[in-house]
Amino acid sequence: MDYFSYENGTMYCEGVSLEQIASEIGTPFYVYSAKSFSDSFNTFSNAFKGREKIICFAVKSCPNIGILSLLGSLGAGADIVSGGELHRALRAGINPEKIVYAGVGKTRQEIREALDAGILMFNAESAQELDVLNEEAKKAGKRARIAIRVNPNVDPKTHPYISTGLKKNKFGISVETVREQFRYAAGLDSLDVEGVHCHIGSQLTDVSPFADAAKIMVSLIKDLRADGIDIKYLDMGGGLGITYNDETAPEHEDYAKAILEAAGNLDITLIFEPGRNLSGNAGVLVTRVLYTKDSGTKHFKIVDAAMNDLARPSLYDAYHGILPVCETAETITCDVVGPVCETGDFLAKDRIAADVPVGGLFAVMSAGAYGMSMASNYNSRPRAAEVLVSGGNYYIIRRRETYADLTGPESVPSFLRNR
Ligand code: LLP
Repeated sequence: MDYFSYENGTMYCEGVSLEQIASEIGTPFYVYSAKSFSDSFNTFSNAFKGREKIICFAVKSCPNIGILSLLGSLGAGADIVSGGELHRALRAGINPEKIVYAGVGKTRQEIREALDAGILMFNAESAQELDVLNEEAKKAGKRARIAIRVNPNVDPKTHPYISTGLKKNKFGISVETVREQFRYAAGLDSLDVEGVHCHIGSQLTDVSPFADAAKIMVSLIKDLRADGIDIKYLDMGGGLGITYNDETAPEHEDYAKAILEAAGNLDITLIFEPGRNLSGNAGVLVTRVLYTKDSGTKHFKIVDAAMNDLARPSLYDAYHGILPVCETAETITCDVVGPVCETGDFLAKDRIAADVPVGGLFAVMSAGAYGMSMASNYNSRPRAAEVLVSGGNYYIIRRRETYADLTGPESVPSFLRNR
């Protein structure tokens, strides 16, 4: 986390004081480092130097159009999973020819929108979806470029909620039957079958499952080419892990080696869909201490960010570092909790943290991925602001929601009006 560091005891992001941002825009807020994004993107890309490749940022991890625009300017494409994500990617100026679209439940309307936009490829996830893609392409007088998402049945050894490449998971088509599905797709008149896709899970801290999956995919590509299907793209999905606490994140070179060894000299364009690897450590959530209290057995730091702002601790028991924005001499074992009315509303449990007093600030670290993107309005809490720091300045890339935003889309039914 070099992009968030202390100077004279207070935390800065690329030379901008987090305390200053907090005093100017209030809390809680997410703050991202542009340099972190660009350095991670370039490191990822350089690991595959000399190979034809497209790096499609997984929009779901950090979908703000300010961030997408930054990544687009670096040459990134987008991995999308909904019409909403397509809208964001296009609004951010991402080249449609670098957009790949996965997801087990694409609606016909979403498919039409993506066809209109001229995206690079649909990653089809079922036999029925192949028919729907074909029908919609035909109706639109277009051809749909597709890959089929293969479920390689490889154990990613990560949290069960974010494992996706096992037979028991809902994703993709089983590797045992997928060759038939490819042949079927190739026979449909409005589809161009050009890719194979897999995504085995998220937050992988070992590269061997990637190597196993890549071997399976490469052997499939050879079979498909032998069947006369001209596969041009190998999309290996995302999933490369990061360090949240004490886990060792794989080096990009080792990840690249695992995949490139399997690919050998195969003539293919590689596609990657990193999300967390680019966004996770690029952002932190800054929150203010509202109250402290002792229950006799526990000390609580009650802060103004909650599970609606950052769901990962409640949902996955995920670890996020909790650091003081202004360093303190004292530490204390505490639960850092939010104002939401649920016992599951915590950002950290039994954590030795800085003894930040009421009014002080904490930075919840490694919150750039699946932080704001999973935020909700639960307990009618307006969602936090988002800020991007670049070149010594900060830019509000999402204003804090207002109460009017909360009720904006709602209405009182006519039979209850004029009471
Ligand atoms: N491609 C596909 C098809 C995916 O489903 C995902 C993530 C990615 C790429 C990006 O994976 P990444 O590189 O970020 O690991 N909410 C969870 C993570 C869910 C991941 C879902 N799919 C969390 O907070 O850990």
